[in-house]
Amino acid sequence: MKILVLGSAAGGGFPQWNCNCPNCAGVRKGSINAKPRTQSSIAVSANGTDWVLINASPDILQQIRSNPALQPARAIRDSGIAAVMVMDAQIDHITGLLMLREGRKKMNLYCTESVWDDLNHGLPLAKVLSHYCGVERHAIDGLSADETHFAPIEVPGIEGIRFHPMPLKSKAPPYSPHRNNPGPGDNNGLMIESKTTGKKVFYAPGLGEIEPHVLQAMQQADCVLVDGTVWTGDEMITLGLTQKTAADMGHLQVSGPGGMIEVLDGIGARRKVLIHINNTNPILNEDSSERAVLAQHGIEVAFDGMEIEL
Ligand code: MLT
Ligand code: MN
Ligand code: ZN
Repeated sequence: MKILVLGSAAGGGFPQWNCNCPNCAGVRKGSINAKPRTQSSIAVSANGTDWVLINASPDILQQIRSNPALQPARAIRDSGIAAVMVMDAQIDHITGLLMLREGRKKMNLYCTESVWDDLNHGLPLAKVLSHYCGVERHAIDGLSADETHFAPIEVPGIEGIRFHPMPLKSKAPPYSPHRNNPGPGDNNGLMIESKTTGKKVFYAPGLGEIEPHVLQAMQQADCVLVDGTVWTGDEMITLGLTQKTAADMGHLQVSGPGGMIEVLDGIGARRKVLIHINNTNPILNEDSSERAVLAQHGIEVAFDGMEIEL
């Protein structure tokens, strides 16, 4: 099983178009040791030809150009993307759907009821796409009685991989009717399991709280790809960029008590990778002391083009 990190940045990307924070200004000028990054998405394949796109970032076209594996060129119009699965209805995870409108068949889209509702009302991209390729929606449903897991999914055309979605505590987008009325399915994590090797990857780009079932999933995975949005909960406020804390946005901070480093320290030896990195996060600077702290804890930082084979 192969996981390709298409976009490792949070909403806005890195550098963000209108941002002159030390990271964005530094990477633009070339004065810091950091790599530009596109917005949040991964792709998964068992055979290297047929892929499931997990989240459709506004940067999807650039991401496809940068990853020729996604274009197997079997016909005059073709794509390696057999299906798309979205974890929530945030702009950085769904607006790329519009860029796939030229598809020759209906787009196979896997999402929860809550996300589907947002795609038809809050930000009605599914309605828009009905005028182009159209959407064949496949439900992520079958929530367990304890509300910790949805039913496992196998995607036709993607042999050898089983997907285990689960609800998470994060935030529905500001335009969502569920923003102030949260429920299971607004934000989701995904255990991706290779049926051939038995190996598992846990993917959760937005993670506001480590509930027991999330911790359990992290402990069962061979590799975790988890929320690394911000180093401190108030870093965007301190830089004068917003009034929102990380918690207001549904993200756990990386450092400090209860932060992601502490969580990752507690899950034993496995591959640990931070993803969905906001442009303000000092870990983007590869020479930063914060980056050195991650290295001490055996934690990697995802970059665009990173490949994980399990
Ligand atoms: C988030 O993850 O909090 C959102 O993607 C932020 C955004 O889209 O600006
Ligand atoms: Mn995001
Ligand atoms: Zn910035």
